[in-house]
Amino acid sequence: MADIESLLKEKRVFKPSPEFARQANWNKKTVREHRKAGEKPERFWARMAKENLSWFTPFTKALDWKPPFAKWFVGGKLNVSYNCVDRHAESWRKNKAAIIWEGEPGDTRTITYGELHREVQKFANVLKGLGVKKGDRVALYMPMVPELAIAMLACTRIGAPHSIVFGGFSADSLRDRINDAGAKVVVTADGGYRRGVPFALKPMVDEACQATPSIAATVTVKRTGEPTEMKAGRDVWWHDEMGKASAKCAPARLDAEHPLFILYTSGTTGKPKGILHTTGGYLTHVTTTARAIFDLKDEDVYWCTADIGWITGHSYVVYGILANGATTVMYEGTPTYPGPDRFWDIIERWGVTIFYTAPTAIRTFIRLGDEHPKGHDLSSLRLLGSVGEPINPEAWIWYNKIIGNRKCPIVDTWWQTETGGIMITPLPAAVDTKPGSATKTFPGIHAAILDEEGSEVKPPDGGFLAITRPWPGMLRGIWGDKQRYKETYWSKWKDTYFPGDGAHRDKDGYFWIMGRIDDVMNVSGHRIGTMEVESALVSHPDVAEAAVVGRPDEITGTAIVAFVTPRGGVDAGETLGKALLAHVTKEIGAIAKPKDIRFTDVLPKTRSGKIMRRLLRDIAEGKESVGDTTTLEDYSVVAKLRGEEE
Ligand code: PRX
Repeated sequence: MADIESLLKEKRVFKPSPEFARQANWNKKTVREHRKAGEKPERFWARMAKENLSWFTPFTKALDWKPPFAKWFVGGKLNVSYNCVDRHAESWRKNKAAIIWEGEPGDTRTITYGELHREVQKFANVLKGLGVKKGDRVALYMPMVPELAIAMLACTRIGAPHSIVFGGFSADSLRDRINDAGAKVVVTADGGYRRGVPFALKPMVDEACQATPSIAATVTVKRTGEPTEMKAGRDVWWHDEMGKASAKCAPARLDAEHPLFILYTSGTTGKPKGILHTTGGYLTHVTTTARAIFDLKDEDVYWCTADIGWITGHSYVVYGILANGATTVMYEGTPTYPGPDRFWDIIERWGVTIFYTAPTAIRTFIRLGDEHPKGHDLSSLRLLGSVGEPINPEAWIWYNKIIGNRKCPIVDTWWQTETGGIMITPLPAAVDTKPGSATKTFPGIHAAILDEEGSEVKPPDGGFLAITRPWPGMLRGIWGDKQRYKETYWSKWKDTYFPGDGAHRDKDGYFWIMGRIDDVMNVSGHRIGTMEVESALVSHPDVAEAAVVGRPDEITGTAIVAFVTPRGGVDAGETLGKALLAHVTKEIGAIAKPKDIRFTDVLPKTRSGKIMRRLLRDIAEGKESVGDTTTLEDYSVVAKLRGEEE
């Protein structure tokens, strides 16, 4: 509530500048018309699908909605790689940069649409040669190299859904995701660069593949040149196969509902969910939103700093951007290597015009000091975006002033892995912005703030964010788990999607997203389930019990705090702490490492045996407990966890 109150005090309003509005793809009038049209979402999205995509066979019906199962653009046939590559390669854009890539060591590659066209077809043929057929799943476990985008597009060309596993996940996480999706091939690299040193990826694939019966082959991109073991009969090099492959591969004519990709995301249980997206609806959503929200033009140099391993990278580094024929910048490494000004250096050198990043990054840059951005010419920038977590007004104002020189509109975009594309956002020429608010729904998207029973909450009270109508980029399910799909997203209210976020609206109808209300933490804009980290901790032989909560953190938004009860006879100390951090890194990946581990003899529980998480959260934050502790099994536990003497 304190957060809501402080945000409600935020009264600053920023109006779109007339200069920006004059040149925008969607001006005020267009937005007004689209909002009106969006009251009938099917009609609006059908128009967008026709205007923004190329179809081999037109669809006959915009939406078939049997809650909670939706089919968009029924009867339509299309191909994502055709839309993202061929149609541009066959136009004047043939020699336009599709991808500007920069490696962390400073090496660069620029790939035109014409070149991308050849590479994608070649890799599609490589996949076919390895026995990948329409419908087969392909796992991609790669650093941020252009081959990742090529591999994605090649998968879409032949209708093989990809499952990208972020390179920061461990071998165990990779193995579980490969097995859940039943992937046939893994594409990887020998490694990548992070903070000036090469890290290895292929050994993780080897480890994972000791227990992945579905994997028939692996393909490895040579990136670092570090010694890499290859298993005869299973492992091939990217460059060897590409050298032999034909550059002609016709795009498959795929049904609009053909599975496009699976992307795993954390939920409230220990097991990540494979979010399924399909072809026509997803591409319509990301292409339309990218064009309208980022105001993408042919002259733009667009840079989204997200790793392609997350949904932001799927939708707004690759698909939504290339489908518009725009130039997308891909950067391999750390924001602060070799110096704290790397990002600003990239913007200046490439003349980046549109920059999309996360609040965690912005807060990090604030801390590093204004002299770094100020030391670079950032005048090419004309629009800024934010994604992944709530942006605090202070960070918003800094972004506007120091990076945007007060002339760039800021689009704070709310969406999720499950929504596929942006849902709540300003439109830069038409919506006044308020620092900290994602403002209003995109035309054709319908949202509300509801209470537990599904009644609309009156402004400015807080409640649950809800999406009340189906939308084209919506997830079509959880891979292999229909029941969980229904339960997680569609069981709170009737025929209404439950995103798991708390929010409220102000008197102008603006949405203010407050963050997750379930047991999912948002650490640096990445979702991590408390249960996942708990399962990892309790799988360590020295741990009897563990509870994990999130604590607000100035930089990362949320920091992970773990309360751990060691097994009898085990010393709770630094050695165990270190061992547990290493263990979580092995089980999940370094992103899930707790910032703070507190040892305790017993965890506070209710009489029915439920861990008192609210109490633990208060303790983690150092607040006096405001919760009802009368049901505590053992009061002394509280004092001990707070670090007080019993
Ligand atoms: O809590 C919301 C937060 O990130 C969650 C979705 O995480 P993920 O699926 O990993 O996708 C992140 C990138 C789209 C949401 O449930 N979130 C995302 N964007 C915002 C946000 N919270 C506030 N403001 C945003 N702009």
